[in-house]
Amino acid sequence: MGKGLILGIESSCDETAAAVVELGVRTLSSVVASQIDTHSRYGGVVPELASREHLRAIVPVVDAALKEAGVGLSDLDAIAVTSGPGLAGALLVGITYAKALAFAEDLPVIAVNHLEGHIHAVLLHEHEAGTERSPLDAKSAALALVVSGGHTHLYLAELQKQGWTYRLVGRTLDDAAGEAYDKVAKLLGLGYPGGPWIDALAKFGDPKAVPFAFARIKDKVHLRGKAPRTKAAKTAPIAELDSRFLFSFSGIKTAVLRYVELNSLREGVAERSAKILARAKPPKTHEEALALCPQAVLDLIASFQFAVIGDLMKKTFAAAESLGVKHILVTGGVAANRELRERFTKEASRHGVTVAFPTLALSTDNAAMIAAAAWPRFQAGEFAETALSADPSLALGVPNK
Ligand code: KG4
Ligand code: ZN
Repeated sequence: MGKGLILGIESSCDETAAAVVELGVRTLSSVVASQIDTHSRYGGVVPELASREHLRAIVPVVDAALKEAGVGLSDLDAIAVTSGPGLAGALLVGITYAKALAFAEDLPVIAVNHLEGHIHAVLLHEHEAGTERSPLDAKSAALALVVSGGHTHLYLAELQKQGWTYRLVGRTLDDAAGEAYDKVAKLLGLGYPGGPWIDALAKFGDPKAVPFAFARIKDKVHLRGKAPRTKAAKTAPIAELDSRFLFSFSGIKTAVLRYVELNSLREGVAERSAKILARAKPPKTHEEALALCPQAVLDLIASFQFAVIGDLMKKTFAAAESLGVKHILVTGGVAANRELRERFTKEASRHGVTVAFPTLALSTDNAAMIAAAAWPRFQAGEFAETALSADPSLALGVPNK
């Protein structure tokens, strides 16, 4: 073995990323090329455009990561790449390039699940920050909430003799929390992705103005043994999960839409909201957006965020309590949210448990988390077959029995 250097490559959605991580715990470089400009005018990721942009960016991004780390390809010990879940065409760009580099340099390839990458982003950060209670060293398990544009999943993550194991504890039945942020922001004429806009504007509104409620998800007895036919169900089974730890974010999006429509009729918010909704281009800065938002829209934004975070908290802490887990990790793009971090931190101290987040840069998609997650696999000699391909609906862990 060389110096323990792994090059990570990530291209599952709309960021082309590469990073070099040493011994799974020290980030030498982390380069992320975002495609926000390409997709923002459509208000969401366009898969065909994503593949094209990855093709353009992959070579310069990998070169930049190596250069920044001050290493050459021959210094590497392995190449780690996201193999799923994600967009098939997008994943394939990273996988194909990783395989080509590995073939040329005679290096092993390590296939990494994107969700496992998000979990390891927290562990990487804790190691780099020198946090004493790092669950990476702890004998006890951690409950990980992966909350992003594509996922809202709860996992019990445990370091065992054979490496990390993950047990699926809960998940969304339909939209991911980040997807709800993006859809609500689009509806209000804000920029893409929606999370950072809502995050910035929510503090100017009254979180109690609109009492959004999440209905308790009933036991889906009829689903036992059968997978429901929702998009979300493809990435992990639902039927075996405890219904207390299931999420659903498609309803709140409709509730927001209804609220906008109703208030347009009743209070004349219409005219002012319409100004935002009718703009051909979303506002460029948060200040510009703030000036355009009537108080009723700011209240709506604050109430939406308050409700979503409340629901994420309620179920995460209930799952931690039910499983007797003392460490909570929150990761993925939505974990960058300020209100989420504040409220989870407060709630954790009330419950006598710890909660950890990655840095903001490690919360959203990046390749350092992929290289970090690959390290235990490298040590265990778990290398990918040469036939490795993209698995758009790759699942992590097994359901809670
Ligand atoms: O992890 P990520 O970069 O990509 C996926 O794997 O999906 O997450 C992107 C998602 C988007 O839905 C975005 O709106 C959301 O994370 N997001 C946020 C914030 N920053 C990004 N949501 C709430 N508050 C934020 N500050
Ligand atoms: Zn992600």
